[in-house]
Amino acid sequence: MAPVGWGIVGYGWVARDYMAPAIREAGHRLVAVCDPSPESRAAAAGQGARGHADLDAFLADPEVEAVYIATPNHLHRGAVEALARAGKAVLCEKPMAAVLADAEAMVRAVEAGGIFYGTAFDQRHHPAHRRMRERIAAGDLGTVTAVRIVYACWLGREWSAAGQPNWRIDAGQAGGGALIDLAPHGLDLVDFLLGEPIADIAALTQSRVQDYAVDDGALLIGRTGSGVLASLNVAYNCPDALPRRRLEVLGTKGLFVAENTMGQTPGGSLTFHDGATGRTEPVAFDGQASPFTEQVRAFGSALRHPAERDAYSAARDLHTMRLVSEAYGRG
Ligand SMILES: NC(=O)c1ccc[n+]([C@@H]2O[C@H](COP(=O)([O-])OP(=O)(O)OC[C@H]3O[C@@H](n4cnc5c(N)ncnc54)[C@H](O)[C@@H]3O)[C@@H](O)[C@H]2O)c1
Repeated sequence: MAPVGWGIVGYGWVARDYMAPAIREAGHRLVAVCDPSPESRAAAAGQGARGHADLDAFLADPEVEAVYIATPNHLHRGAVEALARAGKAVLCEKPMAAVLADAEAMVRAVEAGGIFYGTAFDQRHHPAHRRMRERIAAGDLGTVTAVRIVYACWLGREWSAAGQPNWRIDAGQAGGGALIDLAPHGLDLVDFLLGEPIADIAALTQSRVQDYAVDDGALLIGRTGSGVLASLNVAYNCPDALPRRRLEVLGTKGLFVAENTMGQTPGGSLTFHDGATGRTEPVAFDGQASPFTEQVRAFGSALRHPAERDAYSAARDLHTMRLVSEAYGRG
């Protein structure tokens, strides 16, 4: 497959630490970035990519085929609308947008432009999650009854991973706090693992520890159309040294427990507990494969082979965004 020429809009933490290395590892090329920050453009130049301060110049770059958007959340909409008008393929970071109305506008732009669009749910590409999904589909859990997720971290007021301002604690830029930042991964994983999305949702948020205005923790409960219950505890107030990334899927025949698989990095563990015998067995998966690299490979392959685009759906991702909005009680 001919290497894909990638552009990145918003060259901060996730773009530098995870996406740029993933593009390299997948054998593709990072050709250009768009970022108003001179420091971010200098970081991109260090990777051999052209830096553009404004989107028009970036869009005129003929080598950019696919664009990864990793700006603060409230800027996703404007970028997607411009890229859709320009006919570029787009992989946009989660959450789709800071507010539901922006996500709805993005879907309209994607449809009007007829572009290939995906939301960057990298955790779909973690090999442990792929293995779980196969075994659930094969019936290893019997009737699935519940998904239980803990996805938490410590995010203080001064938190910054790439020297950027901490937009995550600003409701206008982020759209909320721990709930909008962390819960979309789990909500999307429920759909990915079970093959059906959560239909009904409710949540309680807390502002318990941190000294900023957005929620620093949330507990969400949901139910799929067929009746599987899901619970998600997400938090910005959990010390990073504690166990804080856990994904369980429970059924009448067994239980899968994945630890430290949710996130941006390879590895973690997956265990199957047999419901008849109580026996516990470790489940093997490729512990070296990065979910970001696998995400780049899959998107690039679908760019070259349109039949593979069925794995992506802007409408499905809009539903996930709607769940986030409903969880906040915004309807
Ligand atoms: N999938 C994941 O695991 C994951 C992990 C981290 C972040 N994210 C998402 O990625 C996005 C970025 O997060 P981050 O932590 O990298 O943020 P960041 O603050 O580190 O980086 C944001 C970058 O966007 C740039 N920017 C600001 N305004 C811009 C504009 N108008 N045009 C282009 N660039 C602009 C900033 O200069 C900065 O370089 C968010 O939507 C976040 O939710 C996803």
